Amino acid sequence: MTIDFTKREQDLLHIVAQSAESLHIEAFAVGGFVRDKLLKRNCKDIDIVCVGSGIELAKKVAETIQPKPHVAYFKNFGTAQIRLDDIELEFVGARKESYRRDSRKPIVEDGTIEDDQNRRDFTINALAIHLSAKKFGTLVDPFNGLDDLKNGIIRTPLNPSITFDDDPLRMLRAIRFATQLNFKIETNTFNAIEPLSNRLKIISQERITDELNKIILSKKPSIGFKLLFNAKLLHVFFPEMVKLHGVAVQDNYGHKDNFYHTLKVLDNLSEKSNDLWLRWAAILHDIAKPATQRFEEGHGWTFHGHEVVGARWVPKIFSRFKLPLDDKMKFVQKMVALHLRPISLTKENITDSAIRRIIFDADDDLESLLLLCEADITSKNEAKVKRYKENLKLVLQRIKEVEERDHIRNWQPPISGDLIMSTFNITPSKPVGIIKDAIKDAILDGQIKNEFDAAYQLMLKKGMELGLSTTNKSTHE
Ligand code: CTP
Repeated sequence: MTIDFTKREQDLLHIVAQSAESLHIEAFAVGGFVRDKLLKRNCKDIDIVCVGSGIELAKKVAETIQPKPHVAYFKNFGTAQIRLDDIELEFVGARKESYRRDSRKPIVEDGTIEDDQNRRDFTINALAIHLSAKKFGTLVDPFNGLDDLKNGIIRTPLNPSITFDDDPLRMLRAIRFATQLNFKIETNTFNAIEPLSNRLKIISQERITDELNKIILSKKPSIGFKLLFNAKLLHVFFPEMVKLHGVAVQDNYGHKDNFYHTLKVLDNLSEKSNDLWLRWAAILHDIAKPATQRFEEGHGWTFHGHEVVGARWVPKIFSRFKLPLDDKMKFVQKMVALHLRPISLTKENITDSAIRRIIFDADDDLESLLLLCEADITSKNEAKVKRYKENLKLVLQRIKEVEERDHIRNWQPPISGDLIMSTFNITPSKPVGIIKDAIKDAILDGQIKNEFDAAYQLMLKKGMELGLSTTNKSTHE
Protein backbone atom coordinates (compact mmCIF):
# COMPACT_ATOMS: atom_id res chain seq x y z
CA MET A 1 0.00 0.00 0.00
CA THR A 2 1.42 3.34 -1.01
CA ILE A 3 0.38 6.88 -0.33
CA ASP A 4 -0.13 9.19 -3.25
CA PHE A 5 -0.47 12.73 -1.94
CA THR A 6 -1.99 15.25 -4.28
CA LYS A 7 0.24 18.19 -5.15
CA ARG A 8 -1.88 20.37 -2.85
CA GLU A 9 -1.56 17.96 0.09
CA GLN A 10 2.17 17.66 -0.47
CA ASP A 11 2.62 21.44 -0.48
CA LEU A 12 0.59 21.83 2.70
CA LEU A 13 2.39 18.99 4.48
CA HIS A 14 5.74 20.59 3.57
CA ILE A 15 4.57 23.88 5.05
CA VAL A 16 3.59 22.04 8.26
CA ALA A 17 6.96 20.24 8.26
CA GLN A 18 8.93 23.51 7.89
CA SER A 19 6.82 25.25 10.53
CA ALA A 20 7.39 22.38 12.97
CA GLU A 21 11.10 22.46 12.21
CA SER A 22 11.31 26.16 12.96
CA LEU A 23 9.55 25.56 16.31
CA HIS A 24 11.91 22.60 16.98
CA ILE A 25 9.04 20.20 17.45
CA GLU A 26 8.07 16.95 15.73
CA ALA A 27 4.86 16.81 13.72
CA PHE A 28 2.89 13.94 12.20
CA ALA A 29 -0.14 13.47 9.95
CA VAL A 30 -2.43 10.98 11.69
CA GLY A 31 -5.79 9.28 11.96
CA GLY A 32 -8.49 9.30 9.28
CA PHE A 33 -6.31 11.20 6.83
CA VAL A 34 -3.59 8.54 6.77
CA ARG A 35 -6.16 5.72 6.70
CA ASP A 36 -8.11 7.26 3.83
CA LYS A 37 -4.98 8.09 1.82
CA LEU A 38 -3.82 4.47 2.10
CA LEU A 39 -7.28 3.26 1.09
CA LYS A 40 -7.37 5.80 -1.75
CA ARG A 41 -10.60 7.26 -0.38
CA ASN A 42 -11.47 10.94 -0.57
CA CYS A 43 -10.50 13.00 2.45
CA LYS A 44 -11.12 16.61 3.23
CA ASP A 45 -9.36 17.04 6.58
CA ILE A 46 -5.72 16.60 7.45
CA ASP A 47 -5.18 15.83 11.14
CA ILE A 48 -1.82 16.92 12.45
CA VAL A 49 -0.36 15.89 15.80
CA CYS A 50 2.77 17.52 17.17
CA VAL A 51 4.81 16.84 20.24
CA GLY A 52 4.32 20.35 21.60
CA SER A 53 1.62 22.99 21.21
CA GLY A 54 -0.86 22.38 18.38
CA ILE A 55 -1.98 25.98 18.67
CA GLU A 56 1.54 27.40 18.19
CA LEU A 57 2.10 25.14 15.20
CA ALA A 58 -1.20 26.23 13.63
CA LYS A 59 -0.21 29.90 14.07
CA LYS A 60 3.14 29.32 12.40
CA VAL A 61 1.55 27.40 9.51
CA ALA A 62 -1.02 30.17 8.96
CA GLU A 63 1.77 32.76 8.68
CA THR A 64 3.32 30.79 5.82
CA ILE A 65 0.17 30.30 3.74
CA GLN A 66 -0.75 33.06 1.28
CA PRO A 67 -3.20 34.77 1.72
CA LYS A 68 -2.98 34.30 5.47
CA PRO A 69 -5.92 32.15 6.56
CA HIS A 70 -7.99 32.51 9.71
CA VAL A 71 -7.06 30.16 12.56
CA ALA A 72 -9.81 28.96 14.90
CA TYR A 73 -8.54 28.10 18.38
CA PHE A 74 -10.23 25.79 20.83
CA LYS A 75 -8.14 26.58 23.90
CA ASN A 76 -10.06 24.23 26.20
CA PHE A 77 -9.18 21.30 23.96
CA GLY A 78 -5.72 22.59 22.98
CA THR A 79 -6.66 22.30 19.31
CA ALA A 80 -6.64 24.67 16.35
CA GLN A 81 -8.16 24.56 12.91
CA ILE A 82 -7.32 26.21 9.61
CA ARG A 83 -10.13 26.01 7.13
CA LEU A 84 -8.99 26.54 3.55
CA ASP A 85 -11.36 26.53 0.56
CA ASP A 86 -10.68 22.94 -0.39
CA ILE A 87 -9.27 21.34 2.74
CA GLU A 88 -9.22 21.63 6.52
CA LEU A 89 -6.14 21.34 8.73
CA GLU A 90 -6.66 20.26 12.33
CA PHE A 91 -3.83 20.66 14.84
CA VAL A 92 -3.43 19.08 18.24
CA GLY A 93 -0.57 18.45 20.65
CA ALA A 94 0.19 14.77 21.34
CA ARG A 95 -1.82 13.72 24.37
CA LYS A 96 -2.16 11.16 27.01
CA GLU A 97 -5.75 10.86 28.01
CA SER A 98 -7.70 9.21 30.74
CA TYR A 99 -11.45 9.22 31.00
CA ARG A 100 -13.97 9.49 33.81
CA ARG A 101 -16.55 6.73 33.87
CA ASP A 102 -19.56 9.04 33.71
CA SER A 103 -18.43 11.13 30.78
CA ARG A 104 -16.64 10.80 27.48
CA LYS A 105 -14.82 14.06 28.17
CA PRO A 106 -11.20 13.13 28.83
CA ILE A 107 -8.71 14.47 31.32
CA VAL A 108 -5.86 15.49 29.07
CA GLU A 109 -2.11 15.57 29.69
CA ASP A 110 0.74 16.22 27.25
CA GLY A 111 2.27 13.05 25.89
CA THR A 112 4.52 11.49 23.26
CA ILE A 113 3.43 10.37 19.79
CA GLU A 114 3.21 6.81 21.20
CA ASP A 115 0.86 8.01 23.95
CA ASP A 116 -1.24 9.69 21.31
CA GLN A 117 -1.43 6.59 19.15
CA ASN A 118 -2.28 4.44 22.18
CA ARG A 119 -5.36 6.47 22.98
CA ARG A 120 -6.86 6.18 19.50
CA ASP A 121 -9.82 3.98 18.66
CA PHE A 122 -8.60 1.47 16.07
CA THR A 123 -5.27 0.31 14.71
CA ILE A 124 -6.26 1.56 11.24
CA ASN A 125 -6.87 5.01 12.76
CA ALA A 126 -3.66 5.03 14.77
CA LEU A 127 -1.25 5.25 11.84
CA ALA A 128 0.97 8.32 11.69
CA ILE A 129 3.24 9.78 9.02
CA HIS A 130 6.44 11.61 10.00
CA LEU A 131 6.63 15.19 8.81
CA SER A 132 10.13 16.10 10.01
CA ALA A 133 12.67 16.81 7.28
CA LYS A 134 14.81 13.70 7.79
CA LYS A 135 11.96 11.22 8.11
CA PHE A 136 9.34 12.90 5.92
CA GLY A 137 6.76 10.39 4.71
CA THR A 138 7.83 7.49 6.98
CA LEU A 139 4.96 5.52 8.50
CA VAL A 140 4.82 5.19 12.29
CA ASP A 141 2.76 2.07 12.88
CA PRO A 142 3.15 0.58 16.36
CA PHE A 143 0.03 -1.63 16.17
CA ASN A 144 0.38 -3.10 12.67
CA GLY A 145 -2.47 -0.92 11.47
CA LEU A 146 -1.16 -1.28 7.93
CA ASP A 147 -1.68 -5.05 8.05
CA ASP A 148 -5.19 -4.57 9.44
CA LEU A 149 -5.91 -2.11 6.66
CA LYS A 150 -4.68 -4.61 4.07
CA ASN A 151 -6.65 -7.47 5.61
CA GLY A 152 -9.78 -5.45 6.27
CA ILE A 153 -9.79 -5.71 10.05
CA ILE A 154 -11.13 -3.38 12.74
CA ARG A 155 -9.20 -3.88 15.97
CA THR A 156 -8.51 -1.65 18.97
CA PRO A 157 -4.85 -0.85 19.73
CA LEU A 158 -5.23 -1.62 23.46
CA ASN A 159 -7.48 -4.08 25.28
CA PRO A 160 -10.86 -3.38 23.60
CA SER A 161 -12.69 -3.13 26.92
CA ILE A 162 -10.43 -0.21 27.88
CA THR A 163 -10.71 1.51 24.51
CA PHE A 164 -14.53 1.19 24.49
CA ASP A 165 -14.97 2.03 28.14
CA ASP A 166 -12.90 5.20 27.62
CA ASP A 167 -15.24 6.35 24.88
CA PRO A 168 -18.34 4.18 24.28
CA LEU A 169 -19.08 5.93 20.97
CA ARG A 170 -16.23 3.84 19.60
CA MET A 171 -18.44 0.73 19.78
CA LEU A 172 -20.66 2.35 17.18
CA ARG A 173 -17.68 3.63 15.23
CA ALA A 174 -16.31 0.08 14.99
CA ILE A 175 -19.56 -1.05 13.38
CA ARG A 176 -19.78 2.05 11.22
CA PHE A 177 -16.26 1.52 9.81
CA ALA A 178 -16.94 -2.19 9.31
CA THR A 179 -20.03 -1.26 7.28
CA GLN A 180 -18.52 1.62 5.30
CA LEU A 181 -15.28 -0.20 4.47
CA ASN A 182 -16.73 -3.71 4.39
CA PHE A 183 -14.18 -4.76 7.04
CA LYS A 184 -14.49 -7.47 9.70
CA ILE A 185 -14.38 -6.59 13.38
CA GLU A 186 -11.73 -8.78 15.04
CA THR A 187 -13.38 -11.29 17.42
CA ASN A 188 -12.02 -9.98 20.75
CA THR A 189 -12.86 -6.44 19.74
CA PHE A 190 -16.40 -7.43 18.79
CA ASN A 191 -16.94 -9.56 21.88
CA ALA A 192 -15.97 -6.65 24.13
CA ILE A 193 -18.95 -4.61 22.90
CA GLU A 194 -21.94 -6.47 24.34
CA PRO A 195 -20.90 -6.32 28.02
CA LEU A 196 -20.37 -2.56 27.61
CA SER A 197 -23.42 -1.88 25.42
CA ASN A 198 -25.24 0.03 28.17
CA ARG A 199 -22.37 2.49 28.38
CA LEU A 200 -23.73 3.96 25.16
CA LYS A 201 -26.25 5.75 27.39
CA ILE A 202 -23.66 8.39 28.32
CA ILE A 203 -23.31 9.35 24.66
CA SER A 204 -25.43 12.17 23.27
CA GLN A 205 -28.19 11.15 20.89
CA GLU A 206 -26.81 13.48 18.19
CA ARG A 207 -23.53 11.55 18.08
CA ILE A 208 -25.30 8.20 18.02
CA THR A 209 -27.59 9.37 15.22
CA ASP A 210 -24.62 10.72 13.29
CA GLU A 211 -22.96 7.30 13.32
CA LEU A 212 -26.25 5.55 12.55
CA ASN A 213 -26.85 7.79 9.54
CA LYS A 214 -23.38 6.95 8.26
CA ILE A 215 -24.27 3.26 8.54
CA ILE A 216 -27.58 3.90 6.77
CA LEU A 217 -25.80 5.74 3.96
CA SER A 218 -23.31 2.92 3.37
CA LYS A 219 -23.46 0.75 0.30
CA LYS A 220 -24.93 -2.22 2.21
CA PRO A 221 -26.45 -0.91 5.45
CA SER A 222 -27.67 -4.35 6.61
CA ILE A 223 -24.07 -5.23 7.54
CA GLY A 224 -24.16 -2.54 10.21
CA PHE A 225 -27.65 -3.31 11.50
CA LYS A 226 -26.87 -7.01 11.90
CA LEU A 227 -23.73 -6.13 13.87
CA LEU A 228 -25.66 -3.61 15.99
CA PHE A 229 -28.24 -6.28 16.73
CA ASN A 230 -25.72 -9.02 17.49
CA ALA A 231 -23.74 -6.75 19.80
CA LYS A 232 -26.98 -5.69 21.53
CA LEU A 233 -26.30 -2.03 20.82
CA LEU A 234 -29.51 -1.69 18.81
CA HIS A 235 -31.38 -2.74 21.96
CA VAL A 236 -30.04 0.35 23.75
CA PHE A 237 -31.17 2.99 21.27
CA PHE A 238 -33.67 1.41 18.86
CA PRO A 239 -35.91 -1.09 20.70
CA GLU A 240 -38.72 -0.77 18.11
CA MET A 241 -36.41 -2.24 15.52
CA VAL A 242 -35.31 -5.08 17.78
CA LYS A 243 -38.98 -6.02 18.22
CA LEU A 244 -39.16 -6.75 14.49
CA HIS A 245 -36.85 -9.70 15.10
CA GLY A 246 -38.24 -13.21 15.43
CA VAL A 247 -41.06 -15.33 14.09
CA ALA A 248 -44.22 -16.36 15.93
CA VAL A 249 -45.70 -19.74 15.03
CA GLN A 250 -49.24 -20.87 15.76
CA ASP A 251 -51.18 -23.80 14.25
CA ASN A 252 -48.27 -24.24 11.84
CA TYR A 253 -48.64 -20.70 10.58
CA GLY A 254 -45.49 -18.57 10.67
CA HIS A 255 -44.69 -15.19 9.14
CA LYS A 256 -41.51 -13.66 7.82
CA ASP A 257 -38.94 -12.31 10.24
CA ASN A 258 -39.62 -8.63 9.90
CA PHE A 259 -36.16 -7.60 11.06
CA TYR A 260 -34.35 -9.41 8.25
CA HIS A 261 -37.10 -8.46 5.83
CA THR A 262 -36.62 -4.77 6.72
CA LEU A 263 -32.87 -5.08 6.20
CA LYS A 264 -33.39 -6.71 2.82
CA VAL A 265 -35.72 -3.87 1.82
CA LEU A 266 -33.12 -1.36 3.00
CA ASP A 267 -30.34 -3.05 1.00
CA ASN A 268 -32.55 -3.37 -2.09
CA LEU A 269 -33.45 0.29 -1.88
CA SER A 270 -29.85 1.32 -1.26
CA GLU A 271 -28.91 -0.17 -4.63
CA LYS A 272 -31.28 2.33 -6.27
CA SER A 273 -31.26 5.43 -4.06
CA ASN A 274 -28.80 7.37 -1.89
CA ASP A 275 -31.57 9.41 -0.29
CA LEU A 276 -31.10 9.19 3.48
CA TRP A 277 -34.79 9.88 4.12
CA LEU A 278 -36.06 7.26 1.72
CA ARG A 279 -33.66 4.84 3.42
CA TRP A 280 -35.19 5.84 6.76
CA ALA A 281 -38.62 5.12 5.26
CA ALA A 282 -37.40 1.62 4.38
CA ILE A 283 -36.22 1.13 7.98
CA LEU A 284 -39.57 2.28 9.37
CA HIS A 285 -42.02 0.92 6.78
CA ASP A 286 -42.99 -2.14 8.87
CA ILE A 287 -42.00 -0.77 12.29
CA ALA A 288 -45.52 -1.19 13.72
CA LYS A 289 -45.94 -4.79 12.56
CA PRO A 290 -45.24 -6.26 16.02
CA ALA A 291 -47.76 -3.87 17.60
CA THR A 292 -50.51 -4.75 15.12
CA GLN A 293 -49.80 -8.47 14.83
CA ARG A 294 -52.88 -10.71 15.33
CA PHE A 295 -53.55 -14.38 14.75
CA GLU A 296 -56.69 -15.15 12.80
CA GLU A 297 -57.80 -18.73 13.11
CA GLY A 298 -57.70 -20.67 9.89
CA HIS A 299 -56.02 -17.75 8.16
CA GLY A 300 -52.71 -17.03 9.90
CA TRP A 301 -50.96 -13.84 10.95
CA THR A 302 -52.23 -10.38 10.02
CA PHE A 303 -50.76 -6.92 10.55
CA HIS A 304 -53.80 -4.80 9.72
CA GLY A 305 -53.20 -1.08 9.91
CA HIS A 306 -49.46 -1.36 10.54
CA GLU A 307 -48.84 1.33 7.92
CA VAL A 308 -51.16 3.75 9.74
CA VAL A 309 -49.76 3.05 13.21
CA GLY A 310 -46.20 3.11 11.82
CA ALA A 311 -46.76 6.52 10.21
CA ARG A 312 -48.11 7.77 13.53
CA TRP A 313 -44.90 6.63 15.27
CA VAL A 314 -42.55 8.44 12.87
CA PRO A 315 -42.60 11.86 14.65
CA LYS A 316 -41.89 10.27 18.02
CA ILE A 317 -39.02 8.18 16.65
CA PHE A 318 -37.57 11.14 14.72
CA SER A 319 -37.81 13.32 17.78
CA ARG A 320 -36.00 10.77 19.94
CA PHE A 321 -33.26 10.39 17.33
CA LYS A 322 -32.98 14.20 17.08
CA LEU A 323 -33.69 13.95 13.37
CA PRO A 324 -35.33 16.94 11.66
CA LEU A 325 -39.05 17.30 12.33
CA ASP A 326 -39.70 19.21 9.10
CA ASP A 327 -40.57 18.11 5.53
CA LYS A 328 -38.10 15.25 5.82
CA MET A 329 -40.05 13.71 8.67
CA LYS A 330 -43.30 14.32 6.80
CA PHE A 331 -41.87 12.62 3.73
CA VAL A 332 -40.91 9.54 5.75
CA GLN A 333 -44.34 9.52 7.36
CA LYS A 334 -46.00 9.67 3.95
CA MET A 335 -43.87 6.83 2.59
CA VAL A 336 -44.68 4.62 5.59
CA ALA A 337 -48.40 5.41 5.31
CA LEU A 338 -48.54 4.69 1.58
CA HIS A 339 -46.08 1.80 1.26
CA LEU A 340 -48.77 -0.86 0.71
CA ARG A 341 -50.83 1.07 -1.78
CA PRO A 342 -49.13 0.38 -5.13
CA ILE A 343 -48.72 -3.31 -4.28
CA SER A 344 -52.32 -3.66 -3.15
CA LEU A 345 -53.38 -2.25 -6.51
CA THR A 346 -51.82 -5.21 -8.20
CA LYS A 347 -54.10 -7.62 -6.38
CA GLU A 348 -57.36 -6.31 -7.74
CA ASN A 349 -58.66 -4.96 -10.98
CA ILE A 350 -56.79 -1.73 -11.24
CA THR A 351 -59.39 0.96 -11.70
CA ASP A 352 -58.58 4.42 -13.03
CA SER A 353 -59.91 5.90 -9.84
CA ALA A 354 -57.47 3.86 -7.68
CA ILE A 355 -54.63 5.00 -9.91
CA ARG A 356 -55.76 8.63 -9.75
CA ARG A 357 -55.85 8.35 -5.94
CA ILE A 358 -52.33 7.06 -5.58
CA ILE A 359 -51.03 9.75 -7.94
CA PHE A 360 -52.89 12.39 -5.92
CA ASP A 361 -51.81 11.08 -2.52
CA ALA A 362 -48.14 10.47 -3.39
CA ASP A 363 -47.90 13.59 -5.55
CA ASP A 364 -44.27 14.67 -6.00
CA ASP A 365 -43.04 11.63 -4.08
CA LEU A 366 -44.52 9.03 -6.39
CA GLU A 367 -41.14 7.91 -7.80
CA SER A 368 -39.77 7.48 -4.28
CA LEU A 369 -42.83 5.49 -3.25
CA LEU A 370 -42.47 3.18 -6.23
CA LEU A 371 -38.79 2.63 -5.44
CA LEU A 372 -39.73 1.69 -1.88
CA CYS A 373 -42.48 -0.66 -3.10
CA GLU A 374 -40.15 -2.41 -5.48
CA ALA A 375 -37.56 -2.81 -2.73
CA ASP A 376 -40.29 -4.23 -0.48
CA ILE A 377 -40.66 -7.31 -2.71
CA THR A 378 -38.44 -9.78 -0.89
CA SER A 379 -40.04 -13.23 -1.01
CA LYS A 380 -37.71 -16.26 -1.13
CA ASN A 381 -40.03 -17.66 -3.77
CA GLU A 382 -38.50 -16.49 -7.06
CA ALA A 383 -41.74 -16.96 -9.01
CA LYS A 384 -43.61 -14.78 -6.53
CA VAL A 385 -40.97 -12.04 -6.74
CA LYS A 386 -41.17 -12.14 -10.51
CA ARG A 387 -44.96 -11.94 -10.49
CA TYR A 388 -45.02 -9.00 -8.05
CA LYS A 389 -42.40 -7.14 -10.04
CA GLU A 390 -44.34 -7.63 -13.25
CA ASN A 391 -47.52 -6.43 -11.58
CA LEU A 392 -45.75 -3.39 -10.26
CA LYS A 393 -44.53 -2.64 -13.78
CA LEU A 394 -48.13 -2.81 -14.93
CA VAL A 395 -49.16 -0.34 -12.23
CA LEU A 396 -46.36 1.93 -13.38
CA GLN A 397 -47.60 1.77 -16.95
CA ARG A 398 -51.16 2.56 -15.85
CA ILE A 399 -49.93 5.47 -13.72
CA LYS A 400 -48.20 6.88 -16.78
CA GLU A 401 -51.32 6.57 -18.94
CA VAL A 402 -53.70 8.02 -16.34
CA GLU A 403 -51.32 10.86 -15.51
CA GLU A 404 -50.89 11.78 -19.19
CA ARG A 405 -54.65 11.88 -19.60
CA ASP A 406 -55.87 13.36 -16.29
CA HIS A 407 -52.92 15.42 -14.98
CA ILE A 408 -53.52 14.54 -11.34
CA ARG A 409 -50.05 15.48 -10.16
CA ASN A 410 -49.87 18.82 -8.36
CA TRP A 411 -53.56 19.05 -9.03
CA GLN A 412 -55.70 21.28 -6.84
CA PRO A 413 -59.44 20.56 -6.73
CA PRO A 414 -61.31 23.40 -8.52
CA ILE A 415 -63.20 24.61 -5.44
CA SER A 416 -61.26 26.23 -2.61
CA GLY A 417 -62.12 26.25 1.08
CA ASP A 418 -62.54 30.04 0.86
CA LEU A 419 -65.21 29.72 -1.81
CA ILE A 420 -67.08 27.14 0.27
CA MET A 421 -66.98 29.42 3.31
CA SER A 422 -68.14 32.51 1.46
CA THR A 423 -70.85 30.60 -0.43
CA PHE A 424 -72.42 29.28 2.75
CA ASN A 425 -71.33 32.19 4.92
CA ILE A 426 -69.55 29.92 7.38
CA THR A 427 -66.25 30.13 9.26
CA PRO A 428 -63.53 27.42 9.07
CA SER A 429 -65.28 24.33 10.36
CA LYS A 430 -65.87 20.63 9.75
CA PRO A 431 -68.41 21.06 6.90
CA VAL A 432 -65.73 22.85 4.82
CA GLY A 433 -63.56 19.73 4.95
CA ILE A 434 -66.50 17.42 4.27
CA ILE A 435 -67.48 19.37 1.14
CA LYS A 436 -63.87 19.66 -0.08
CA ASP A 437 -63.31 15.92 0.32
CA ALA A 438 -66.61 15.08 -1.39
CA ILE A 439 -65.56 17.15 -4.43
CA LYS A 440 -62.05 15.69 -4.49
CA ASP A 441 -63.39 12.12 -4.15
CA ALA A 442 -66.03 12.61 -6.84
CA ILE A 443 -63.41 13.87 -9.29
CA LEU A 444 -60.85 11.19 -8.46
CA ASP A 445 -63.56 8.52 -8.71
CA GLY A 446 -64.63 9.88 -12.11
CA GLN A 447 -68.19 10.69 -10.90
CA ILE A 448 -67.95 14.30 -12.01
CA LYS A 449 -65.68 16.03 -14.47
CA ASN A 450 -62.55 17.78 -13.30
CA GLU A 451 -63.96 21.26 -13.93
CA PHE A 452 -65.35 24.20 -11.98
CA ASP A 453 -69.05 24.04 -12.91
CA ALA A 454 -69.53 20.37 -12.06
CA ALA A 455 -67.63 20.87 -8.80
CA TYR A 456 -69.67 23.97 -7.96
CA GLN A 457 -72.94 22.11 -8.39
CA LEU A 458 -71.71 19.30 -6.18
CA MET A 459 -70.68 21.83 -3.54
CA LEU A 460 -74.24 23.28 -3.49
CA LYS A 461 -75.75 19.79 -3.27
CA LYS A 462 -73.46 18.71 -0.44
CA GLY A 463 -74.03 21.98 1.41
CA MET A 464 -77.76 21.46 1.26
CA GLU A 465 -77.39 17.91 2.54
CA LEU A 466 -75.48 19.35 5.48
CA GLY A 467 -78.27 21.86 6.13
CA LEU A 468 -76.31 24.91 4.94
CA SER A 469 -77.86 27.74 2.95
CA THR A 470 -76.14 29.92 0.40
CA THR A 471 -75.66 33.67 0.71
CA ASN A 472 -76.92 35.66 -2.31
CA LYS A 473 -73.66 37.52 -2.65
CA SER A 474 -71.54 34.58 -3.73
CA THR A 475 -74.05 32.41 -5.55
CA HIS A 476 -72.51 31.37 -8.79
CA GLU A 477 -74.46 32.42 -11.84
N1 CTP B 1 -10.80 9.08 17.30
C1 CTP B 1 -10.83 8.21 18.39
N2 CTP B 1 -11.99 7.99 19.06
C2 CTP B 1 -13.13 8.61 18.67
C3 CTP B 1 -13.12 9.47 17.59
C4 CTP B 1 -11.93 9.69 16.91
O1 CTP B 1 -9.81 7.66 18.73
N3 CTP B 1 -14.26 8.38 19.34
C5 CTP B 1 -9.52 9.34 16.61
C6 CTP B 1 -9.21 8.35 15.50
O2 CTP B 1 -7.83 8.19 15.46
C7 CTP B 1 -9.72 9.08 14.25
C8 CTP B 1 -9.37 10.52 14.58
O3 CTP B 1 -9.56 10.61 16.00
O4 CTP B 1 -9.08 8.63 13.09
C9 CTP B 1 -10.23 11.54 13.84
O5 CTP B 1 -11.59 11.34 14.16
P1 CTP B 1 -12.79 11.71 13.23
O6 CTP B 1 -12.45 12.87 12.41
O7 CTP B 1 -14.00 11.72 14.07
O8 CTP B 1 -12.98 10.42 12.34
P2 CTP B 1 -12.17 9.86 11.12
O9 CTP B 1 -11.42 8.65 11.58
O10 CTP B 1 -11.39 10.91 10.45
O11 CTP B 1 -13.32 9.28 10.17
P3 CTP B 1 -14.61 9.99 9.60
O12 CTP B 1 -14.18 11.27 9.00
O13 CTP B 1 -15.12 8.99 8.64
O14 CTP B 1 -15.53 10.16 10.79
